[in-house]
Amino acid sequence: MTAPDKIVGKHIILRRFNHVDAPAVYDYAKLEEVSRWTITMPHPYPKLGALKFIMDANIKFNKNRQYNYAIVLKGKRDEPIGGCSIHDIDWDNKNAYFGYVIGKKHWGKGYATEAAGLMLELGFKILKLHKMAANVFPENPASERILKKYGMILEGVQRERYYRRGAWRDLLSYGILEKEYKKSTKY
Ligand SMILES: CC(C)(COP(=O)(O)OP(=O)(O)OC[C@H]1O[C@@H](n2cnc3c(N)ncnc32)[C@H](O)[C@@H]1OP(=O)(O)O)[C@@H](O)C(=O)NCCC(=O)NCCS
Repeated sequence: MTAPDKIVGKHIILRRFNHVDAPAVYDYAKLEEVSRWTITMPHPYPKLGALKFIMDANIKFNKNRQYNYAIVLKGKRDEPIGGCSIHDIDWDNKNAYFGYVIGKKHWGKGYATEAAGLMLELGFKILKLHKMAANVFPENPASERILKKYGMILEGVQRERYYRRGAWRDLLSYGILEKEYKKSTKY
């Protein structure tokens, strides 16, 4: 099972990252407000971090271990405004996690909601997964709202799982089964 190189949505297109995307990725990743409630993005974001991320993402994509996509706006410049991924894929048990990041100047326009929908569609319809999950910090209500919009269920709280911004933070674990996803075709 593999994922397509390109997925066309209503307002966004997801496509594989290319090394020439590094400056655009660095541009959105360097902001502390963007990396603040993610698990994998460091701050300060290193100058070569974006290129390393893209190279690593493409190796994992080719090995069907993780699928990272650049989010570009339909009908606009082919430049990433953010990214999304299906990661930590457990093929034996047909489940995986997904995530998304949008550059700050593009927040509040529904792009992450659409990207999350495309990740769920990819996971369930193309990769034939049984279950998809996402983790979110309670301090990130916009992201939690997106998961809830798709009918994802809060399955547990990983208490004080990460040390962030001077304190131990809980992590909320959300999940959705394929049979539940079918019911939520709203978005
Ligand atoms: C979280 C993030 C992905 C949201 O992206 P976005 O494109 O602005 O999100 P959308 O516009 O699709 O939707 C956001 C939803 O959250 C809601 N929202 C925004 N701020 C909120 C808040 N403080 N409390 C509750 N809901 C909020 C919006 O109203 C919208 O819901 P609606 O469609 O019902 O109106 C973006 O802010 C981001 O990239 N943050 C940094 C990286 C990150 O945190 N990624 C997620 C890690 S789990």
